[in-house]
Amino acid sequence: MKFTKPIVIGNWKMHPESLKKAEKLFGDVMRRVARLRTPCTVGVAAPSVYLETLTKRARGKRIMVGAQNVHASPWGAFTGEVSMPMLKDIGAAFVIVGHSERRAMGETSEHVGQKLAAVLKSGAYAVLCVGEQARDEEGVFLEFVGEQIASALEAIPERHISRLIIAYEPVWAIGTGENATPQDAREMRLFIQKLLSHMMGEKRAMRVPVLYGGSVNEDNITAFAEEADVDGYLVGGASLDAEQFTSVIKGAL
Ligand code: PGA
Repeated sequence: MKFTKPIVIGNWKMHPESLKKAEKLFGDVMRRVARLRTPCTVGVAAPSVYLETLTKRARGKRIMVGAQNVHASPWGAFTGEVSMPMLKDIGAAFVIVGHSERRAMGETSEHVGQKLAAVLKSGAYAVLCVGEQARDEEGVFLEFVGEQIASALEAIPERHISRLIIAYEPVWAIGTGENATPQDAREMRLFIQKLLSHMMGEKRAMRVPVLYGGSVNEDNITAFAEEADVDGYLVGGASLDAEQFTSVIKGAL
């Protein structure tokens, strides 16, 4: 894995409401990131209509631009969809796959697996999102996350694993202001890496970055950075403000 850790990715979701605002936010983030002294990897997952403009601005800069979703087929009669060749053509470096908000819109594990395969095959990086709806005492949530990962990776050739990033995002912590504790994130990271070790051997598994996502902000980032032992963060709400997003990045260093 060539990424310099920590990896901090902003997920803009369906924001902001104009290209002008997207360019302004991106420019503000880019300028702040350029001033960082400590190496790290920063990415922004923007709405697809803004990607071409933003990837051009990001060329040669310390920031990656990616998409929030993709269709698994390279082309076809899929009204409203965007394919991996299209995203690659406009310079998208990575794609978020299986975000819980997309799963809630009907995306099945099968779709997630197919999309993940399409992204990795194209040579782009994939941020595979996994996470339970709720926690329980018996540890059923671990099984649930384990199955999400196993089914997503089922058809992925081992040689493509080097472009995989996993984001653990407990659904109950997304956009709610509630977050998992750093210990929860740490425990899940260990669980994920153990699972991956069984699937692909420890050496490969240890190279897959595991991020935490779910209401990460400038107030809780320090606790995560100190105790969670994750490789980075997927940041929603707090990535829509350049100042706040930069504080999260700095806190993660
Ligand atoms: P949040 O979103 O930081 O607003 O909770 C995280 C995500 O959905 O990736």
